[in-house]
Amino acid sequence: MTVPTGEERHGVTRRTVIKAGLAGATATALPLGGLLRVIAEGSGGNSPPVTSFSVPLPRPPKAIPVGTTPEGLPLYVFHEREALVPILPGLPPTKIWGYEGTTPGPTISMRAGQKIVVRQVNELTTGTTTHLHGGDTDAVYDGYPTQLVPPGSSFDHVYTGEGETATLWYHDHAIHRTGENVYAGLAGMFLVSDANERSLPLPKGRFDVPLVIQDRLFDKDAQLVYPFEDPRTHQVLQQGVFGDTFLVNGAPRPFMRVARRKYRFRVLNGCNARVLTLALSTGEAMTVIASEHQLFEHPVDTTTLHMATSERYQVVIDFSKYPVGSKIVLRNEFEGDPGDPFSEALTREIMRFDVVADVKDPSSVPADLAPQEPLGVPTVHRTWEFHRSGGQWRINDEVFEENRVDAVLKNGTTELWTLVNGGGGWIHPIHPHLVSFKVLDRNGSPPEPWEVGAKDTVSLGQGDVVRIQFDVDENKEGKYVFHCHNVEHEDDDMMTNIQFVL
Ligand code: C2O
Ligand code: CU
Ligand code: CU
Repeated sequence: MTVPTGEERHGVTRRTVIKAGLAGATATALPLGGLLRVIAEGSGGNSPPVTSFSVPLPRPPKAIPVGTTPEGLPLYVFHEREALVPILPGLPPTKIWGYEGTTPGPTISMRAGQKIVVRQVNELTTGTTTHLHGGDTDAVYDGYPTQLVPPGSSFDHVYTGEGETATLWYHDHAIHRTGENVYAGLAGMFLVSDANERSLPLPKGRFDVPLVIQDRLFDKDAQLVYPFEDPRTHQVLQQGVFGDTFLVNGAPRPFMRVARRKYRFRVLNGCNARVLTLALSTGEAMTVIASEHQLFEHPVDTTTLHMATSERYQVVIDFSKYPVGSKIVLRNEFEGDPGDPFSEALTREIMRFDVVADVKDPSSVPADLAPQEPLGVPTVHRTWEFHRSGGQWRINDEVFEENRVDAVLKNGTTELWTLVNGGGGWIHPIHPHLVSFKVLDRNGSPPEPWEVGAKDTVSLGQGDVVRIQFDVDENKEGKYVFHCHNVEHEDDDMMTNIQFVL
């Protein structure tokens, strides 16, 4: 057996505990109240089979404020709780951890410049901390990994909508447990709209649909399994935790009935570790109009869309070119993932669009979406290398230390970062909190056509060197984290602190 990750540094770690639990065990409960189980030996290591496209696509509930704070801000209350939800058809309900007991959690929608308060009430059995990913959030509300809200208590986060449209998501960020907590269900969408975007004839309302794509592994009773190891080889899954069953908005490989018109999808790769290459079974192009932040200057047509974990894209698909009765499968065509312990055949189909009706389509995708600010002249250059050594994931050869700051970012400066994949065949989605950046190039060549917009997470593929640039103009002070968004890498300390100063 390989040495559990993290052992060298922490002595007895949670992984050691889990491994100890695994020795000779069948289905052993992980130390989090029995929610997630390691898969039973001899079960074959796969989820119960699910017939593709047999369940309709759910939409996450819309979050509604429960009132206003004494300062007059809309107040949302999210109880983090355990719940039983039906996921696999014909099998018992699955125990999840969800904001308001749902997964994905309720979708928050707000306007740029608006301010809201989200009260996080922890009704779980472990400390949690909620992070609004991509948010322009004061450090105290950002969900710092060690700033845990203990079970039975609550914390009010103040969130400010950024200047432009943004497709954000919120998720748990607890130190060394983010992977387990997100896997158990603690994640939801958070959308910011701006005036320019609202004035454009893009698909809106019920034709603007979040698609949260996640892979999960279930045991025979439909309970979530969080495998640190390949159940067959007992190798620690270094590339993180994979599942063999796609969920979209919490439903396994669902279908969605669509009319012959354009739909706008807010796609999140919400997997812990799996990277995706989206494609339509018809081979036709999708129109990408935005990445995580802002609209693109011009729409980008592409037949494949690569998404590392936590990347988001706004994608318009025009179903008017298909006759009623057409069925179009959204596929994952990413091949050769270095960490995937499952047969790729299991993770090819994500969901299906069934064209069921004729309809007038008043929407369109304008050729000009949003003007972009010109890039500044970089004043500070930094290089970050992401690799594994000594049994841990590292940034510039260091593991996370709460009290070590590796970069001080001064308001008013422009930073150019060179992100280097230090090898080993792994993929690292890189995410600094607070800032949004532009991708300058990848391996000296222009980035992918859909990477032209403002982003907060970028895929650092095998052997890649990616350069990004951003202005430090948030007027914030304080310590934020910067990490790999393969959440198991993050949990195993591929994370550091960046300090913002005025
Ligand atoms: Cu999704 Cu530290 O972030
Ligand atoms: Cu974040
Ligand atoms: Cu990584």
